[in-house]
Amino acid sequence: MKLPVFKMYIDGKWVNSHSEETFQKINPATEKLVGVFQKGNKEDVKKAVNAAERAFEKWSEIPAPKRGKILLKVAQLLEQNKENLAKELTEEMGKVLAEARGDIQEAIDMAEYIAGEGRRLFGRTTTSELKDKFAMTVRDPIGVVGCITPWNFPIAIPSWKIFPALVCGNTIVFKPSSDTPRCAVKFVEILEKAGIPKGVINLVTGGGNEVGMEIVRNKGIRMISFTGHRDTGKEILRQAGIKKVSLELGSKNVIIIMDDADLNLALEGVLWGAFGTAGQRCTAASRVIVAKDLKSKFEKMLLEKASKLKLGYGLNKGIDIGPLINKAALEKVHSYTEIGKKEGAKLLTGGKRSGTKGFFYLPTIFTDVSPYMRIFQEEIFGPTTAIFSCKNFDEAIEAANSVEYGLSFSIYTKNINNAFKAIKKLQSGIVYINAPTIGAEIHLPFGGIKNSGFSREGGWTAIEEFTNEKTVYIDFSGKLQKAQIDLD
Ligand code: UN1
Repeated sequence: MKLPVFKMYIDGKWVNSHSEETFQKINPATEKLVGVFQKGNKEDVKKAVNAAERAFEKWSEIPAPKRGKILLKVAQLLEQNKENLAKELTEEMGKVLAEARGDIQEAIDMAEYIAGEGRRLFGRTTTSELKDKFAMTVRDPIGVVGCITPWNFPIAIPSWKIFPALVCGNTIVFKPSSDTPRCAVKFVEILEKAGIPKGVINLVTGGGNEVGMEIVRNKGIRMISFTGHRDTGKEILRQAGIKKVSLELGSKNVIIIMDDADLNLALEGVLWGAFGTAGQRCTAASRVIVAKDLKSKFEKMLLEKASKLKLGYGLNKGIDIGPLINKAALEKVHSYTEIGKKEGAKLLTGGKRSGTKGFFYLPTIFTDVSPYMRIFQEEIFGPTTAIFSCKNFDEAIEAANSVEYGLSFSIYTKNINNAFKAIKKLQSGIVYINAPTIGAEIHLPFGGIKNSGFSREGGWTAIEEFTNEKTVYIDFSGKLQKAQIDLD
């Protein structure tokens, strides 16, 4: 069978790469080829930036509520194509079908929510220290925004960036992960169908070093919005020059289970938080801190449930966990199993590949873990979780905060004081009480602290991310008034 060839989208046209080179991509569950994609290069990025700069002039002049309306059309098309898109998504990256649907639903929700924000690009007005003078702010678009996205939510995460950026009047150069280029093509096809004018969204596929770093360095690009690995985030900060940078990086999230918790509820939370999407989320719960008295009971319950989880191709029925995204991911996840063993943690279950076809890895649980161990400190991005048992609330919080990351932390407790203390003390951008670390909703800010980055995507903060707030003074006194000097 001849493989389908996918193109890039620059200035309203589907084009081959300037390099005339392509790359292939396999389905990580079946190891069958998915398609052939354009290996973009610097020239392609330059063309895309030029197109986006030209398109910016008109696009930024369209009133924001009208730009928002196009996104309602996008939402409609996503809804109409949801089932097909979900299947294609699973084919490309192996995600369990129900989760693939969730990925697309998140994009639909974002389009609907942010379309309305087109009518709420609020600035502020305030008082002036001088007479007959107004002081206020208005929101301007930033310009051309480079959106560099990961593979783990190949429709949702581009939508978190691209939809708000568009409503705010920016134009886009979009570089998706080379693990999910087909989803990116499908996504852009929908934007095209919805009537986004040419040059407003441009798609350049290809490698991070060539395409990604050219986007980062290119002077025509005024902002980079990146989700991905911490080390790439660091490199982006080094190379971006003076432009706005928004980073959503990895994490080492935790679920704390206090001795007064509803244990069954916490157990369900851990199963979903640690093993949903095979742990391939920056919000995955790769640590569990459990009260000492509950430790053995909890471990027994977890072990029983985890061993029943079904691994397999996400298109098949009854599958709980899909594959890891590629061979390198499989090797990385396994290397952490070796590290955990060497560090002296006890492997409760898993710790190896499942089958020989596809990159499946068994749900893996380490216990008797100490907070200093690497499996407790470093992001693994796979179905591995590490259990530490704590003496009390204070020790739990200290261990939770002992990592360099801080995205999504959770605590299960019925003690209302401890719940509120945890909200205050947990060092993370998102805190869950009696719910797992995953499941963020698009109309609230999403982002981390420390090495997890500093962006706040989604919610009302999305508008802040993708605009410059311009300060305006209007003096209607008819005379020169001097701030700080005319004191009476
Ligand atoms: C990510 O892994 O980059 O809350 C984002 C969640 C999802 C988003 C995850 N809605 O887990």
